Amino acid sequence: MANDKTTAPQVDLSRLPRHVAIILDGNGRWAKKRGLPRTAGHAYGAEAFRRIGNYCKAIGIEYLTVYAFSTENWRRPPEEVRTIMSIFDKYMKEALSIMERDRFKMRFFGERSGLSPELQRLMAAAEEKSTHYDGCQMNLCINYGGRDEILHAVRRYAEAYKAGTAPELTEDVFSNYLYSAGIPDPDLIIRTSGEQRLSNFLPWQGAYSELYFTDVLWPDFTERDMDAALAEFQRRDRRFGGVK
Ligand code: IPE
Ligand code: IPE
Ligand code: MG
Repeated sequence: MANDKTTAPQVDLSRLPRHVAIILDGNGRWAKKRGLPRTAGHAYGAEAFRRIGNYCKAIGIEYLTVYAFSTENWRRPPEEVRTIMSIFDKYMKEALSIMERDRFKMRFFGERSGLSPELQRLMAAAEEKSTHYDGCQMNLCINYGGRDEILHAVRRYAEAYKAGTAPELTEDVFSNYLYSAGIPDPDLIIRTSGEQRLSNFLPWQGAYSELYFTDVLWPDFTERDMDAALAEFQRRDRRFGGVK
């Protein structure tokens, strides 16, 4: 692998994490640094997302989960929220049109009823069209909040319990009530832009994830930066509470 153009030499492709999750942060600061409106940062952020999605698929990451809009992001100015939503619309239309070529299996984590009917329709179409794809699964978190997800799961379990159809509650059973049902927990969670917090991202699923923080702003995040994160992951010693 030493001279491979796309992969930094230090990444061992036979020991990749199965599931990588990314908190793509720093779009606004990236734009500000350039004297651009924050909204321009989101457009460039979407480009970075296409690039990194393709890269993860190319090297063989099985699951890529990205945090694109949180349940708290509605607190932003309406103009910024509108722009982000229109970027999602545009991204989804494009993803649907090139789906046969790209073959990402798509899933969405988050409360959909808060989104526009058009976006909900595009999301459902993408999920349906890609159900049988295998290779790389992309989970887009839109209107996602970890606490909201847990409440959602508890409510659904309680309904099943009342109806007498709930299985005994175990960690595995509970996991199946989350948006991530059937998907292994993330091995690695990356956050860009220098912030060192999870901001309500995957609190249940990330219990044993390796965390990686980088100062790089999301629109600047390249394949090399991804390699740096993967290489660092491969240096970690995961013990899951046990001993070596
Ligand atoms: C991440 O970039 C994108 C979203 C949260 C939608 P930000 O918009 O949070 O960028 P900063 O953190 O303000 O720089
Ligand atoms: C987290 O980023 C949410 C997403 C990346 C979608 P924020 O920029 O919203 O998080 P805080 O406000 O800095 O914690
Ligand atoms: Mg931010």
